[in-house]
Amino acid sequence: MSHPFDLSQRRVLVTGAASGIGLATSLRVAAMGARVLAFDRDEDGLAALLERLPGAGHASHVLDLREVEEIPAAMVACADQEGSLSGLVHAAGISSVSPTRLLSPKNYRDVLAVNTEAALALVRGFQNRKVCAEAGGSVVLIASVMALVGSVGATAYSMSKAALTGLAKSAALEFAPRGIRINCVAPGFVKTQMYDKVASSWDAAQREQIERAHPLGLGEPDDVANAIAFLLADASRWITGSTLVCDGGYTAA
Ligand SMILES: NC(=O)c1ccc[n+]([C@@H]2O[C@H](COP(=O)([O-])OP(=O)(O)OC[C@H]3O[C@@H](n4cnc5c(N)ncnc54)[C@H](O)[C@@H]3O)[C@@H](O)[C@H]2O)c1
Repeated sequence: MSHPFDLSQRRVLVTGAASGIGLATSLRVAAMGARVLAFDRDEDGLAALLERLPGAGHASHVLDLREVEEIPAAMVACADQEGSLSGLVHAAGISSVSPTRLLSPKNYRDVLAVNTEAALALVRGFQNRKVCAEAGGSVVLIASVMALVGSVGATAYSMSKAALTGLAKSAALEFAPRGIRINCVAPGFVKTQMYDKVASSWDAAQREQIERAHPLGLGEPDDVANAIAFLLADASRWITGSTLVCDGGYTAA
C-alpha cells in the first residue's frame, strides 16, 4: 500500500503558480512526487518556477484566467500533450479593497472573473474525461477567511470567495461517483505579494491589529501549501465538499 501522502504518478495543475501560495504549493507537491502543470499569466515567474521544481516532467502554460472561456480548451490541450490530471489547485486570485458604494461592475468584474468564474471553468475543464485521470482526482479551490467572516472594504473579494465554498459543495456531490473530490482551503492573512499590496495602505496600528487577530501569527505560503497537499493526497480520500480553514486562529475568536 502506498504512503497516504505520496503524490508520485500524479499530475497536478496549479494556477497562480508563479507567486505566493501557488508557488509554494507547486514546490510542495513536486517534493511529494507530483508532476506540476503550472498556469499563470506571469511568463517570467513560470520560467523561474520550472527551474526550481524538483523532479522531472513539469510543464507550464501562460494564460490570463480572465479569458474564462479559453480555460477548458487549454486544459484539454495540455492534458493531450502532457498527460491526464489527478489534481487541480486554483490559487490564482486578485484582491479587492473598496467601499461597497464605489463597487461598480467595472472594478469588481476582474475579481469575479479570476477568483470565481475561472474556478468554475477549471472544474468544468477538470471533469472532462480527456483531462481527468480514469481513477478520479482532487480539486482544491483557494477561498479565504473573507468567505466566512466579514471585513469592511472586502465586499467584492468576500463574495468572490464565498461562492467557491458553494461551488465545492454542489460539484462535490455531482462528481463523487467519478471519484473526483472538490474542497476549499480558507487561509487567513499570508505573507505574499498579495498581502504586501493590501497591507501597503495600512498604518502601523492597522498592521498590528491584523497580526494580533492571528493568535499563531501571520501565515507563510508553506502553511497553506501543506494543507492543500493534504487535500490532494489520498490521506484526505474521505473528505469532499469541505472548507479547510487554515488561518492561525483568525476565525477562532
Ligand atoms: N495572501 C493572503 O493573505 C491570502 C489570504 C486568503 C486567501 N488568499 C488567496 O490565495 C490565493 C493566492 O494568493 P497569494 O497571496 O499567493 O497571491 P499572489 O499575488 O502572491 O499570487 C497570485 C498569483 O495569481 C496570478 N494571477 C493573478 N491574476 C491572474 C490572471 N488573470 N491570470 C492568471 N494568473 C493570475 C499572479 O500572476 C500570481 O502569480 C488567491 O486566490 C488569494 O485570494 C490569499
